[in-house]
Amino acid sequence: ARVVVLVSGAGSNLQALLDAARDGAYPAEVVAVGADRPGAAGLDRARAADVPTFVVPLAEHPDRAAWDAALTDAVAAHRPDWVVLAGFMRLVGPAFLARFEGRVLNTHPALSPSFPGMHGPADALAHGVKVSGATLFVVDAGVDTGVIVAQTAVAVEPDDDVAALHERIKVAERRMLVDAVARIAADGLVVSGRHARFGTPGPV
Ligand code: GRF
Repeated sequence: ARVVVLVSGAGSNLQALLDAARDGAYPAEVVAVGADRPGAAGLDRARAADVPTFVVPLAEHPDRAAWDAALTDAVAAHRPDWVVLAGFMRLVGPAFLARFEGRVLNTHPALSPSFPGMHGPADALAHGVKVSGATLFVVDAGVDTGVIVAQTAVAVEPDDDVAALHERIKVAERRMLVDAVARIAADGLVVSGRHARFGTPGPV
């Protein structure tokens, strides 16, 4: 399966996919990596792996709709079966979601539906939860509200600060992402209402 990955930052989730895909038996291939900013370190990881890159900065477009259209076209040019948002820190817009409906996945460093938004690890810590984790979901128009595909749990330790908790989550998050993308690429993904499962649609 052809996967386009979008990043804004460090790109360690991207790196996990690139590493997994080096094994010819891995069923997904990262065919391109896009970013919303030229300085995203994930772009260097893509270049190091000889994967094509593209950058679509919001500031270079008159408004969000124009940016969304340009991002949609840039991603579509690589004919993805799946689009993975891996630390992509912007909401994709309606044109993007219409074009790739049901095929956009995002990872969130919290156990949805708890603690959506930009500060999942900090919010979990502030709430005093004893378990947190990461969630892979099918992107919809909301903020971290999409149908849940996979989750992984990690313990919150008594002396955790935000960085320590987020780092522990990211270790589990990368494993979850690599495993789930393999399942989706090999077997497919069936979504029905709020429920997703790996596989192909059964007879009706
Ligand atoms: C991940 O925890 C992701 O869920 C969150 O930001 C982090 C990105 O990490 N949105 P990286 O850029 O993949 O290293």
